[in-house]
Amino acid sequence: MTQYKDGTNGERIHTSESVYRLAATGRQKAEDERLSLLEEIFDPLSRQRRAFVQPGWRCLEVGAGRGSMAVWLAQRVGVNGRVVATDVDTTYLNRLDLPNLEVRRHNILSDSLDSLDPGSYDLVCARLLLFWLAGKQEIAIRRMVECLRPGGWLIDEDGDWGMVAPVDPSHSHYAGYHRVWKNGEWWAERGYDPLFGRTLPMLFERCGLVNIRHKASATVVRGGSPWGRWWLQSLEAIRASEHADGSLTEERDTEYGVLTAPLTDPSFWFLSALIHGCWGQRGVS
Ligand SMILES: C[S@@+](CC[C@H](N)C(=O)[O-])C[C@H]1O[C@@H](n2cnc3c(N)ncnc32)[C@H](O)[C@@H]1O
Repeated sequence: MTQYKDGTNGERIHTSESVYRLAATGRQKAEDERLSLLEEIFDPLSRQRRAFVQPGWRCLEVGAGRGSMAVWLAQRVGVNGRVVATDVDTTYLNRLDLPNLEVRRHNILSDSLDSLDPGSYDLVCARLLLFWLAGKQEIAIRRMVECLRPGGWLIDEDGDWGMVAPVDPSHSHYAGYHRVWKNGEWWAERGYDPLFGRTLPMLFERCGLVNIRHKASATVVRGGSPWGRWWLQSLEAIRASEHADGSLTEERDTEYGVLTAPLTDPSFWFLSALIHGCWGQRGVS
């Protein structure tokens, strides 16, 4: 049974299995804004990646966040379809009110699947969730696969941060960014796999899925763009969580300054994270 309780500073949600570093507790408005930018940036591609969804389908969106994709799916499946949107924190999902959209507080790592009706979904999807479940992604994927009906599809979209880089070696922020970012090793120092996204097809196969397909997409953006603002707000949220748990050393704090300063500078162009989309089907036998 999962137990939820606020951290000492009220900013982190602890579960029996993991701590979600960007939990909204204590910073709901800021997280609402950050997730809203995330939706603005990623929804157009996510909709294309889910364009095969048919009226009448049953869909499960895991770690649905603020819910824009769950709402889109509910509209797509129509009155004869059904969407279940889950999250460990349903603060934002609870605002949604559509007759065919059901919201459930649920931890994909540790809560029983019984309440989700395993084996019944035509589509199970997640976006930018698995990255955060460091070392437990395969467990989460296996549990999502269990929710599919035979022949149903799993889609996951997740980031690969190894290639994020400024594009102009003559820019004043170029060398500093590289020195701190270290091709994404910055994430590894915090316990996350910066290259996670590229492992998805392999993990899907290991979890028994068939007809696996994969595509990845990145874009060159500038400081001050929605991407720049989202990345800035994400870094600030991680910095705040490190301040709260005592892991924010003076050196780390300085490094945050090096990474965040260019993100408001429109003369700073950088390659975004690569966002992988992976599809796989549960076998019928
Ligand atoms: C980066 S946000 C992405 C939100 C949404 N998928 C989107 O792309 O708009 C990650 C979400 O996963 C949720 N989450 C984190 N750990 C989870 C877990 N173990 N089970 C279910 N949801 C989780 C968080 O509360 C958060 O809403």
